[in-house]
Amino acid sequence: MKLKLALFAAALTGAMGMGAPALAADAGHAEVHKQSWSFAGAFGHYDRGQLQRGFKVFREVCANCHSANLLAFRNLAEPGGPQFSEAQAKELAAQYKVKELSDKTGDVEERPARLSDRWPAPFANDIKAREAMGGSLPPDMSVLAKARTYHRPFPLFLIDALPGFSYQEHGVDYIVALLNGYKDEPPAGQKLDAGQSWNDIMPGNRIGMAKPLADGQVDYTDGTPATADQYAKDVAAFMMWLAEPKLEDRKRTGFRVVIFLAVLAGLLYATKRRIWAKIPH
Ligand code: HEC
Repeated sequence: MKLKLALFAAALTGAMGMGAPALAADAGHAEVHKQSWSFAGAFGHYDRGQLQRGFKVFREVCANCHSANLLAFRNLAEPGGPQFSEAQAKELAAQYKVKELSDKTGDVEERPARLSDRWPAPFANDIKAREAMGGSLPPDMSVLAKARTYHRPFPLFLIDALPGFSYQEHGVDYIVALLNGYKDEPPAGQKLDAGQSWNDIMPGNRIGMAKPLADGQVDYTDGTPATADQYAKDVAAFMMWLAEPKLEDRKRTGFRVVIFLAVLAGLLYATKRRIWAKIPH
């Protein structure tokens, strides 16, 4: 079945003169490549080690500029995510300060964060963030992995939608490609404004975020190579969890529903045979 469809797709692509099915980004010349993700497919699940590494990259690098307003410290210890122990999450929270209106003094006071607190944002508000970033606003990361995608040419986008092929990892592919898509210099004849970098993947190619990752920048303690490419994959996986913390649950439920429907179909067929058995037809 898979083979037939693939052949059919290949024939169609050929017939339409579209050449090799390169995954061209909207930006034109650059390509976003499909990565292999542990959480893709019907039985997908997050790789805990990868989520923990991705969190480290997020915390040490991205969180200096990006907020993640939907993330609470307690989420980091919940099933289906990086699954730090509750003690680890508490210890982590205590390293951050949050502001709270004191009901004793009536003043806004700082206190160490607790499990129930949200991840503190690096800037007080969007205006302050833009001021610090030379005019560009670092988007909140909570659902960014779901808010970005890239165009897959015909017929790939149709195949992506078929059950069994269903591909939903466009956002994370895009983020990995974006983080790896920086060029030191813009192509000849192109100019950048102050604070802009050239990025092959960013639509329009001009991005207000300087290249955030370099080899060796974040310490990995589990033997995983500490390269910019690996950081990009790990932080993208973490952002996928951030955007869809119940992904594992959803996929498990989907599988149970399919089994249930298969059993129900069998029972209904047996019932139909029984009912019609003695009736001439
Ligand atoms: C120095 C501050 C800074 C750091 C550190 C930083 N970013 Fe950004 N990021 C920005 C700004 C500013 C923008 C908005 C860029 C624009 O709109 O041109 C942005 C935009 C983005 C976007 C959206 C691009 C798009 O398609 O619109 C993604 C994804 C992103 N950052 C991911 C990351 C990740 C992952 C990290 C950590 C590895 C990170 N950023 C670290 C400042 C930063």
